[in-house]
Amino acid sequence: MSEGLWPLISDFWIWNPHLKPTPIMAQAKKALAKRNTKRKGARASRATAHAYHNYIGGKWIPSSTGETFENVNPADVCDVIGRFPLSTREDVDAAVSAALEAFNRWRLTPAPRRAEILFRLGEILLRHKDRFAADMTREMGKVLKETGGDVQEAIDCTYYTAGEGRRLHGFTTPAEMPNKFAMCVRQPVGLCGLITPWNFPMAIPSWKLIPALVCGNTVVIKPAEDTPLSTYNLVAACEEAGIPPGVVNLVTGFGETAGAAITEHPSLRLISFTGSTDTGRSVAAACAERNAICSLEMGGKNVIMVMEDADIDLAVEGAVWGAFGTSGQRCTASSRLVVHKKVYKQFTRKLVERAESLRVGNGAAPNTEMGPVINEEAMQKILGYIEIGRREDKAKLACGGGRLTRGEYANGFFIEPTVFTDVAPDMRVAQEEIFGPVTAVIPTGSLEEAIDIANGVRYGLSAAIYTQDVNRAFHAMNETYTGIFYVNSSTIGAEVHLPFGGTKATGNGHREAGTQVLDVFSEWKSVYVDYSGKLQRAQIDVDELL
Ligand code: UN1
Repeated sequence: MSEGLWPLISDFWIWNPHLKPTPIMAQAKKALAKRNTKRKGARASRATAHAYHNYIGGKWIPSSTGETFENVNPADVCDVIGRFPLSTREDVDAAVSAALEAFNRWRLTPAPRRAEILFRLGEILLRHKDRFAADMTREMGKVLKETGGDVQEAIDCTYYTAGEGRRLHGFTTPAEMPNKFAMCVRQPVGLCGLITPWNFPMAIPSWKLIPALVCGNTVVIKPAEDTPLSTYNLVAACEEAGIPPGVVNLVTGFGETAGAAITEHPSLRLISFTGSTDTGRSVAAACAERNAICSLEMGGKNVIMVMEDADIDLAVEGAVWGAFGTSGQRCTASSRLVVHKKVYKQFTRKLVERAESLRVGNGAAPNTEMGPVINEEAMQKILGYIEIGRREDKAKLACGGGRLTRGEYANGFFIEPTVFTDVAPDMRVAQEEIFGPVTAVIPTGSLEEAIDIANGVRYGLSAAIYTQDVNRAFHAMNETYTGIFYVNSSTIGAEVHLPFGGTKATGNGHREAGTQVLDVFSEWKSVYVDYSGKLQRAQIDVDELL
């Protein structure tokens, strides 16, 4: 294959006349000011905070302006973890140039060789698992067991996807003419921009990065500004594993600036984004402008249906884990619990008991069961929804509902595990994604009604049913319009070798994980080989064959 073919991608996309320059520094400064106001007691920790760098073309370098933003601990905002580059469009340009320069070498490296490096990456992640989990708890807040799970998911994803280096299967198929051969091969898409969220700050970057790499793409990755350290750790591990310079480029900063610059960059053929549905829509619009491939994973309003024959204790455990794990900050969180009237009282009583007994605190403490939420803005949004729930007609605030502010909670963003009961399916707390430790219990009279309620939201990520009846379980599976379905298990807990994603406002038809993600990060090329030695016209020379 000629090397000369691929550079076309950069030239081709550069023409776009619709790119609108954003007032970069003005927006970044505004976002920065918002972050800094909350950190009065942080002076000592700020003075010693380590200055981290971007990783561009195999070098660790500051942002072009030298400006930085702080990464703080949501359990204690006086704990400044580090300063990270406040990257601008220039930094993104530099990262894209590095990715372009590395692309030919990487795409021409045989996939099994690329995969060998990825296996090494898996070993490195495993070796540093405890340190990476501790870093993640410090910057993101979730408890150590969960951050260990997050790192483990990146390890699983790396080993699993590295295995694809020896598969990356295409297919052969009969051709419609004699002495003609037909097959289909996968090729890399080119340069990829990856924009990742803060709730799974190593797992989700790995879902995008590792498949992109095994397919032969080079990437620019921008982690969420709340959790840059976990992605920094992942990228540093890539360097240690021997991934060549320029293949993986890390740019930290804000969505309004660095994120927008990635989304709009004419040389990035693909944007993979995980985050809110509103942001995802603007990412999609920017990609549509320049005909870039766009893979989106967005919101959820996931449901657990609890039928009258369910094991109630098990269902309560699933609901508590799904609603309050990661402080409810998962796109797969169990934010709606649709419970059959015959077991409604029993279920809600046990649920409230369990929610009230959850130990909220700093995720680094071994006995903590639920950590803080990510930042001030998120906390205010969640408290705002709790207020909405309180005011909504019938709904009852059964437990929680407040911010925790005293003692160990004084410097963090802690919200009590919150349960609303007697919620009607059309109430805002039952319709909108809250992304916090709040769940809504909705009574139902039948499985059919439960399924209607399950489907009656704009999202379609994950759903679950608790029942002992296999017929009902399969019926609900078939009738629920979501990308993920669980039986007798919570709405969370997806594994890396199955596709992850959702319907409706959750996604745009793509999937991460599994082998299905390879369809995002590779392009199909159909290949016809005519060895008849004569002109054979497809669809025209048909009569001669009969
Ligand atoms: C998310 O919900 O934001 O399915 C990601 C899970 C994890 C990933 C969740 N493996 O629970």
